[in-house]
Amino acid sequence: MMEDGLPTYRIVTIPGDGVGPEVVDAARRVVDAAGGRFGFAVDWTEIVAGGIAIDTYGIAIRPEDVEACRDADAVLLGAVGGPKWSDPAAPVRPEQALFALRGGLALFANLRPVKIHPALIASSPLRPELLHGVDLLIVRELTGGVYFGERQEAGEEPGDRFAVDTMPYGEEEIRRIFLVAAGYALGRRRRLTSVDKANVLATSRLWRRVVDEEGRRVPDLEVSHQLVDSCAMLLIRRPADFDVIVTENLFGDILSDEAAVLAGSLGMLPSASLSDRQTAYGTFGLYEPIHGSAPDIAGQDVANPIGTILSAAMMMFSSFDRKDVSAAIEAAVSQALDGGWRTGDLADPTNADDGLVVVGTTGMATAVIAALEAGVPA
Ligand code: IPM
Ligand code: MG
Repeated sequence: MMEDGLPTYRIVTIPGDGVGPEVVDAARRVVDAAGGRFGFAVDWTEIVAGGIAIDTYGIAIRPEDVEACRDADAVLLGAVGGPKWSDPAAPVRPEQALFALRGGLALFANLRPVKIHPALIASSPLRPELLHGVDLLIVRELTGGVYFGERQEAGEEPGDRFAVDTMPYGEEEIRRIFLVAAGYALGRRRRLTSVDKANVLATSRLWRRVVDEEGRRVPDLEVSHQLVDSCAMLLIRRPADFDVIVTENLFGDILSDEAAVLAGSLGMLPSASLSDRQTAYGTFGLYEPIHGSAPDIAGQDVANPIGTILSAAMMMFSSFDRKDVSAAIEAAVSQALDGGWRTGDLADPTNADDGLVVVGTTGMATAVIAALEAGVPA
């Protein structure tokens, strides 16, 4: 769609709960500033989902709001959840919004890159020498497996309670996530680690067979298999050895939290959840930071917005095919960090003379926008 001769991108925001609204607002400002520099407009629409939707509508997301997302070119989400709605036995829970969006919009490919800005190596709990060169991408299958398999909840009668979760996978689901991961690996260091539990699970044995069959068809790609337990260990022992990891839903959930620790702060990390549907501009997807709603610091303008800003950069890359804009936003974030700007999660309160400037959510967004507008080379 064009307006005043500019391409107009239709983005739905889901601020959600806790710090979600603050970090989404920060990322919106950055995207609007990028539009000014690169000549595009954004038609923003906001919808309510998560705990706030439970309070407002009694459900985590309304079907018409899932439809509003489907009608857009891309979705930017903050975070959902909080202690007010955290009873796992409650019939309505904020994370149901995530499952409705992932399943309803067929967002099967979840990308979770972990890269460590050199200035932040000291914030990681790992020894610095292990972290040099860490640049990995976890590709998590997001609409299958135990998350979406049939379930039987336990009854109420103590003594004989019994529950069942099932973990189904079809070969087509495995093939399509493998092909997404292989595509990314070919654009990187051409190393793909497929993670499973083939010594125990039938779904993992199928996973491994399909990955082998498909892997043979992709020239110049080094495909290896790793059991999930040893992968968990190697992610800490030799994280720089990984390039792209592809794995099923639950393993990807666990390994991506583990990998996120490498980066020092969860606040830094972005994610993308992609479908295979093409819009007028690119691949439809939903983008969100890795961190949660952090209710303890909500409303204080202290949350780190970089994970959401970098998620918006991923959105520019995948949903709008704007590699230029994406690279410029990433470069502006690096520049702000190089310039010494830090949110509280990245600062060392015991060192007042380190030359760093601690800012809040809006201050960090302003620093990134200043770098973007100064036109740092991408
Ligand atoms: C994630 C989260 C969700 C998941 C939760 C909130 C249901 O941990 O996106 O990784 O398990 O997928
Ligand atoms: Mg998780």
